[in-house]
Amino acid sequence: MNPVVHKPLLATVLGQRQDRPPMWIMRQAGRYLPEYRETRKQAGTFLDLCYNPELAAEVTLQPLRRFDLDAAILFSDILVIPDALGQSVRFETGEGPILEPLDVKGIDRLEPARASAHLAPVLETIRRLRATLPADKTLIGFCGAPWTVATYMLNGRGSPDQWVARRFALEQPAAFDRLMDMLVETSIDYLAAQLEAGADVVQIFESWALNLDDASFVRQVIDPNRRIVEGLRQRIPNAPIIGFPRGGAGNMARYAQMTGVNALGVDYATPLDFVRSHLPADLPVQGNLDPLRLVVGGEAMEKQVEAIIAAFADRPHIFNLGHGIVPETPIAHVERLVELVKHG
Ligand code: CP3
Repeated sequence: MNPVVHKPLLATVLGQRQDRPPMWIMRQAGRYLPEYRETRKQAGTFLDLCYNPELAAEVTLQPLRRFDLDAAILFSDILVIPDALGQSVRFETGEGPILEPLDVKGIDRLEPARASAHLAPVLETIRRLRATLPADKTLIGFCGAPWTVATYMLNGRGSPDQWVARRFALEQPAAFDRLMDMLVETSIDYLAAQLEAGADVVQIFESWALNLDDASFVRQVIDPNRRIVEGLRQRIPNAPIIGFPRGGAGNMARYAQMTGVNALGVDYATPLDFVRSHLPADLPVQGNLDPLRLVVGGEAMEKQVEAIIAAFADRPHIFNLGHGIVPETPIAHVERLVELVKHG
């Protein structure tokens, strides 16, 4: 981190409000960009692309060449962690990720000792980005939160209600806790290495903070996120961290307070009023346009963009979507969005 150069997005994470909100777009490198689809073809499999520092750095930079965004997010995936621990992971076009589902024996066969060597190419991607990215752009590293990653590891693929993982957590508490401990430790090492390699900020993606009762939310979401924040700050004091508990609903305030993240990612189903009335006035927030409004564009998008900027006008705010951009998104709509956020 170079304190002399002003990075508006990093500054916002650290609590300084900017005149216009800095912005990035969740999942900004991806299939809605023709140049991404082209590089992706060259790379081989999706994981080959994640572990190819030259091509991964290239796709990280693609959205910034087109749009006036304030941050680049490392191109990788949350599921490189299970891959690094030795679980079989592949990505099928149209189907998303497919893993060999874990049982108790499978958990005990995971090999945390091999993770850091396996993830070395991702750190090389960050070093390359650090060397080429303009000084005012923030470089965001990331990992999946342990619960979100565990839902894929236990079920073998995405699921609408995380039933398999929720049931496993209750029926096999000891094995579940061993898995979560391993993911917490691996994530701390991985995020510390990302910051050391040159990331300015890290985001913890808790994409499945849904469908959990009070006690499970504390055990499966808050505790592991808090342990990562604490563990990371023991290694790197003041490490800037964004937490994104998608679907956290009534638990958002507790999440922010108990984990100690610097900034809170807000999903699009969270009412703007709720943020104003339930979250500390000085807490930096990031979000929260529905990605579908960006697909549709026009008034459906523009009115909500204005409402979001107005609702967060008195606190540090990073403009973003409230979940990832989808492949159907017209590029002209992204151009318009950036124009609106930057210039009104
Ligand atoms: O531009 C960026 O945001 C950087 C790269 C990035 C990817 N995945 C690339 C990717 C990031 C930050 C992620 C995070 C991620 N991965 C999350 C958390 C964010 C969220 O959307 O909730 C999750 C849950 C995953 C797991 C994952 N990876 C799924 C469910 C899928 C398939 C569905 C989909 O979104 O495409 C992936 C594949 C994936 N990860 C792609 C990309 C660009 C598409 C694969 C392809 O190119 O063939």
